[in-house]
Amino acid sequence: MAEAPKIDNNLCTMCGLCIEICPRDAITVVDGELTTLEGECILCSHCYAVCDAGAISFDPDVLRAVKFRTIRFDDIPRRNVTPADFVNFSMSRRSVRKYREIPLSDNVLADLVDFAVTAPSGSNCQNWCFTVINGRDKVFELANKIRRFFERLNVIVRNPVTRYLSILFAGKKLLKYYKNHYNSVEMGLNEAAKGRDLLFHGAPAVILVHGGTSGSTPFEDGQYAAYNIALLAHALGLGTCFIGYAKETIKRSKGIRAYLGIPAHHRILAVLTVGFPAVEFGRFALRKEYPVRFF
Ligand SMILES: Cc1cc2nc3c(=O)[nH]c(=O)nc-3n(C[C@H](O)[C@H](O)[C@H](O)COP(=O)(O)O)c2cc1C
Repeated sequence: MAEAPKIDNNLCTMCGLCIEICPRDAITVVDGELTTLEGECILCSHCYAVCDAGAISFDPDVLRAVKFRTIRFDDIPRRNVTPADFVNFSMSRRSVRKYREIPLSDNVLADLVDFAVTAPSGSNCQNWCFTVINGRDKVFELANKIRRFFERLNVIVRNPVTRYLSILFAGKKLLKYYKNHYNSVEMGLNEAAKGRDLLFHGAPAVILVHGGTSGSTPFEDGQYAAYNIALLAHALGLGTCFIGYAKETIKRSKGIRAYLGIPAHHRILAVLTVGFPAVEFGRFALRKEYPVRFF
């Protein structure tokens, strides 16, 4: 499988743009013809994207065009969104914690994932995987598994003897958990016992972003992919919410990872609920003051 761009020197106009744009200097001229340097290409496809002559292509088993099932768009990059529209759109995305009981099609969720992978990634590793849980029953089943994880954890930390004994095998992690989360989790568990889904907020679907630890920045890459999902969902009239509690629990529970079929060596990078919002936000978010320095 060729992992470098294929160059059709008959079409090439020798404009040199591909050489200039390549972040790895993987394209060069030998004997008056363009050629690629084996092993240097990171498959960013910048060379392909700047070549108006269409002289550059990739093995379709290696790189493919991103296609959507439910979204029609013209295949020409344009940047004609006004800053005002962009700011309005991005700022009107909010975390949605109340969903309508409307199921989502697999196609829409698949499109969200296809858009996720257009996010940037360190050294273009794209070392991400996605698990889509579509259906209220399945989401609730996952919530129940996470609930049982916390029930067992709270039994351990509630008892001062086991709480302090845990230092021997878990360091001070459980003491910190007891101090910072025990009460709120206990409250959540009481509500869950009444049938409320405080974890996934009643969403009809959940998307997990996970991946191996190879690559230069797998953790950041997963966040950017997840945020892409949040943005496209917003454009589709859907709501999302990052669920940190679920991410941390699935990360720690071998049983839940096995249940979801997530490889043991994968890290859970993000967990997002998706669904039609049952709330409308008529005003933008307020934000805290923040420090900024121009050095
Ligand atoms: C990494 C991360 C984890 C989060 N975890 C949760 C969570 O477990 N449950 C929840 O309801 N919201 C969660 N949120 C949503 C935040 O509370 C929310 O983004 C923040 O309050 C700002 O609100 P906004 O997204 O509507 O602007 C999380 C957000 C992020 C970025």
